Amino acid sequence: MDRFRTGAFFLCVAGAALACSGGTRRAVSPAEVRVVKSAKLPVTPDDPAWAGVPVHPAQLLPQDVVEPRLLAPTTTALEAQAVTDGTQVAFRLTWSALPRSDRTGPAVFGDACAVQLPAATGLDAPNPMMGEATRPVEITYWRATWQATVDGRPDTLTALYPNAKVDHYPFESASLMPGSPEQLAMAKRYAPARAMGNTMAGPRDRPVQDLVASGPGTLRPADRTVSTGAGKATEAGWSVVIVRPLPKGVKPGARSQVAFAVWQGSKGEAGARKMRSGWIPLAVEGGP
Ligand code: HEM
Repeated sequence: MDRFRTGAFFLCVAGAALACSGGTRRAVSPAEVRVVKSAKLPVTPDDPAWAGVPVHPAQLLPQDVVEPRLLAPTTTALEAQAVTDGTQVAFRLTWSALPRSDRTGPAVFGDACAVQLPAATGLDAPNPMMGEATRPVEITYWRATWQATVDGRPDTLTALYPNAKVDHYPFESASLMPGSPEQLAMAKRYAPARAMGNTMAGPRDRPVQDLVASGPGTLRPADRTVSTGAGKATEAGWSVVIVRPLPKGVKPGARSQVAFAVWQGSKGEAGARKMRSGWIPLAVEGGP
């Protein structure tokens, strides 16, 4: 090993608290997710501002507590980073999971991730398993299928099922004139879902949904989704930014808890079947 490589090797070892990835040195925060204070929030996964934000290497465990359980570990780690502008917090989650999946269909699931925070801060946090009866949690959930829709994947059969052959389909023409019979027919396509308030299907303007839970089996949509997000495929998997308001009572300088979850669609993971973390200390920079 020539002198140069030896030097680089020792540099990497010496800077253990500063992880090397791809030659760039990044601060690692093994004990907590450190929320860096910044006037501008990085809202996309490839915003260069993330380079200076400490990485928390979160360990994930199978959800093997409540049926349907995940019996074998899949995505065992994710890298979490966070930035706040004092009102909102942006989380960047990066994880390796191949093959990626951004489709759903019969027995086909899309990849997803989620951030969970206590709905209210207190001396101790609610049960990390999606909260408890009197102490709910707030969850913001990102789906790769929604990201594909937001990134412009047409909501058509041929886009969703590339191998499907359709000779004529009333709901099919991508360029639907507003008010045209086809457009009205397309609208009807989601009418049942819309009538039931189900926002899981159809056109959407953001790849995330805000949810509330008071224990496993109680998950429900929040009154409205205020969070935003943006996800990008990486060579090894996904990098996703979720931006949401700082939880009630969490101000710069405060401490709280955060938990994460990841679903690998190609492994049949959906709903309860996922990899998840326990509570991780969340330390918000700034304050008096
Ligand atoms: C051991 C801990 C956990 C258990 C036992 C558990 C259990 C469950 C169960 C039973 C469901 C089915 C739906 C329902 O609740 O109504 C579910 C869905 C869900 N859970 Fe959890 N969960 C755990 C941890 C987490 C964590 C830490 C997060 C977020 C970071 C999370 C986010 C979600 C989401 C977003 C769904 C809906 C997914 C979908 O629609 O496909 N869970 N979980």
